[in-house]
Amino acid sequence: MWFSARSCLVAAALFYASNALPQATSADDSTSDGASAPVACNNSPSLCSRRYNEVTHLGAHNSYALRDASTDNSISGNQYLNATRALDAGLRLLQVQTHQGDTTLQLCHSSCSLLDAGPLEDWLKLINTWMNENPNEVVTLLVVNADNAVPADFQSALVQSGLSERSYVPTTAGATADWPTLQTMIDSNTRFVSFVTNLDYDATAAPAVLPEFDYVFETPFDVQELDGFNCTLDRPSGLDSATNALSQNYLSLANHFKYSSLGTLGISVPDEDNIETVNSKSISEVGALGTHLDACRQEWGGVPNFVLVDFFNAGETIVALDSINDVSDAEGRTQPEDGGSGAGLNAAGRLHSTSFGALVAFGAAVFLL
Ligand SMILES: *[C@@H]1O[C@H](CO)[C@@H](O)[C@H](O)[C@H]1NC(C)=O
Ligand SMILES: *[C@@H]1O[C@H](CO)[C@@H](O)[C@H](O)[C@H]1NC(C)=O
Repeated sequence: MWFSARSCLVAAALFYASNALPQATSADDSTSDGASAPVACNNSPSLCSRRYNEVTHLGAHNSYALRDASTDNSISGNQYLNATRALDAGLRLLQVQTHQGDTTLQLCHSSCSLLDAGPLEDWLKLINTWMNENPNEVVTLLVVNADNAVPADFQSALVQSGLSERSYVPTTAGATADWPTLQTMIDSNTRFVSFVTNLDYDATAAPAVLPEFDYVFETPFDVQELDGFNCTLDRPSGLDSATNALSQNYLSLANHFKYSSLGTLGISVPDEDNIETVNSKSISEVGALGTHLDACRQEWGGVPNFVLVDFFNAGETIVALDSINDVSDAEGRTQPEDGGSGAGLNAAGRLHSTSFGALVAFGAAVFLL
């Protein structure tokens, strides 16, 4: 009985294994001869003068859901490295999923019994610490509001974490072509943008909590095949096409993470086996990040604004990012260790065997049904 209930829960949770969602500089960088060196915004001087909506922000899908020792290498984990490491590496979008806990919003993956990364507020404090230490960075948060929490709950988490003091508040609510430049957002310290699903804008109680689908459209998130990535609008359904969304000044988000099916169980888990291909910079290989971004740029007539990946330190996600942004002067990033396969005893190799063990145990539990 315990097994069946738990198995159902885990199966359901894994099946819905979630969906979904982008640095800066300091003013005085004088060189010894007195001339000012160019200052970087989101790791590049050439991005400072670009508007927020003219940049591709690379994001970590389920950035808190780790496949590491802290979660016993959970097979539902989407990342090897945490959100601070993602920001250090140059990612500027963090996507999370929240569930209603007893008193707080919790970062859980599909179900809190499957993976619970603690209160949203505590995690946001760590992001705020990073924002303090990195004053020239524009960062975006994308929250999947799984239990339909009200806007004030998210505003409260922003206030408690300190992030509300640097949060972006729009002058007029809703999709717009008139986003500020990264430099303007940095100068005015409105460099933390929060999008949340499943709520309406509340300008009074939660001015910094932007309803995602009033601003952003997404491509399909449940991709199971390497040839399944495309640039078709999936959500919000009311907009019927990417062309329509773009004409209404929506920001674009390409979901670029792949699930694989576990046998005949009808369960999907983040696909580790194909991660080098999925996160490849190639612009010709089927299923590659570079190929997907390039296709969307061509189809949309502009760069994708956001792209979400799993296991960001595997493959060549940062190279693909610089390529789509046409950036060649990147600076200030910390190179994370390679998370990809092919090096023998690297993280992915170890985790793969652990995942397999977990999978066998999981299969056995389901079989007991
Ligand atoms: C990530 O891990 C480092 C230590 O390894 C820690 O200092 C940091 O606070 C963590 N960040 C998050 C968001 O968990
Ligand atoms: C994009 O993928 C979705 C989901 O698989 C599919 O429904 C849609 O038809 C695809 N778009 C194109 C143009 O093939």
